[in-house]
Amino acid sequence: MKNTFGNALMVTLFGESHGPAIGAVLDGLPGGVKIDEEYIAARLTQRRPSGRISTSRREPDRYEILSGVFNGYTTGTPLCIIIRNEDTRSKDYDNVSRLARPSHADLTAMYKYGGFEDYRGGGHFSGRITAALVAAGAIVMKALEDKGILIGTHISTCAGVSDRQICAEADLRVLAEADFPVLDGKAADEMEKRILAAAAEGDSVGGVLETLVLGMPEGVGEPWFDTAEGMLAHAVFSVPAVKGIEFGAGFAITEMKGSQANDCLRTDGSKIYTETNNSGGINGGITNGMPIVFRTAIKPTPSIFKEQRTVDIKNGENTVLSLKGRHDPAIVHRAGAVINAVTALTLADLLAVRYGCDWLRTGDNK
Ligand SMILES: Cc1cc2nc3c(=O)[nH]c(=O)nc-3n(C[C@H](O)[C@H](O)[C@H](O)COP(=O)(O)O)c2cc1C
Repeated sequence: MKNTFGNALMVTLFGESHGPAIGAVLDGLPGGVKIDEEYIAARLTQRRPSGRISTSRREPDRYEILSGVFNGYTTGTPLCIIIRNEDTRSKDYDNVSRLARPSHADLTAMYKYGGFEDYRGGGHFSGRITAALVAAGAIVMKALEDKGILIGTHISTCAGVSDRQICAEADLRVLAEADFPVLDGKAADEMEKRILAAAAEGDSVGGVLETLVLGMPEGVGEPWFDTAEGMLAHAVFSVPAVKGIEFGAGFAITEMKGSQANDCLRTDGSKIYTETNNSGGINGGITNGMPIVFRTAIKPTPSIFKEQRTVDIKNGENTVLSLKGRHDPAIVHRAGAVINAVTALTLADLLAVRYGCDWLRTGDNK
């Protein structure tokens, strides 16, 4: 049983979608990490549902820090951050305890917890829990930013529409302010149109997120099990609805010859860089100083309003599910903020393993 991730900087998640609160504990942060309240609130806003392309559940996501912060800086002791659940409608889930939603976690949670699981709103498996992850990740993401490490994610494709490539620091600055994380305005409009069209049919769509990290120091990551790719993939796969990840050129590298796939080395006299970045900034599990680039596959929301075949878990009979409740017709636009958060937590952990936790300190109080 493990709801904790990380070696030197650990994050633990707790809570249920319709319980009193959700939250995260960060352990391993040094004293002296500045808490930027507006920054945390802005990251939560990017994950929060809004408009017609998201669930109509409206949570204000007011976070409270219960421990580990004093006078605006972390103290170095465990930091507990919670967000109370305010807009719950548990009645909508009465039939979920019997009729498992196809491709949601209702059935597998029942297998594991023997019927004692809190199924309301997806319980501990709900996308709602990612709000706590985003809040905790925002603290770390800001500390990394203050050290010159910038993280950003855009929707690379959604419902058959593609965004332009993400490439520069300016793109990350645009995405840091964006409600809908797409760089090309026309592509954004078309994606929103197709999400709405799926919603109108009681259906849902998926997409691919692309993440870029600039300024990550070279030489970070372990050679075998805790590789930079392995740890990022572990954290990214912790996010509900993730079905794949590829780094750099990804699966397309298998279609290249070695002479095309290899990233040739150059130097400008002070720094070694590569001419291409098919490796996505990582070789041998260790960062090579180039931008880290990866793409995450997000599946269509499993809760849809079309009738679906399922099994009544109580009487073991085949039946049909007509769903009630409030659901996202797409997850991909909300998941970018979550991927940024887990990326920040993972890179900070890898940096803490290499340089010690104090590396992340942003202030001095001596
Ligand atoms: C930000 C976010 C929002 C989500 N919203 C919903 C939702 O409204 N309805 C739903 O069925 N699943 C939603 N999910 C996905 C489910 O939580 C997820 O599919 C489920 O837990 C099963 O996990 P798996 O898809 O990884 O197998 C959301 C996920 C995220 C990250």
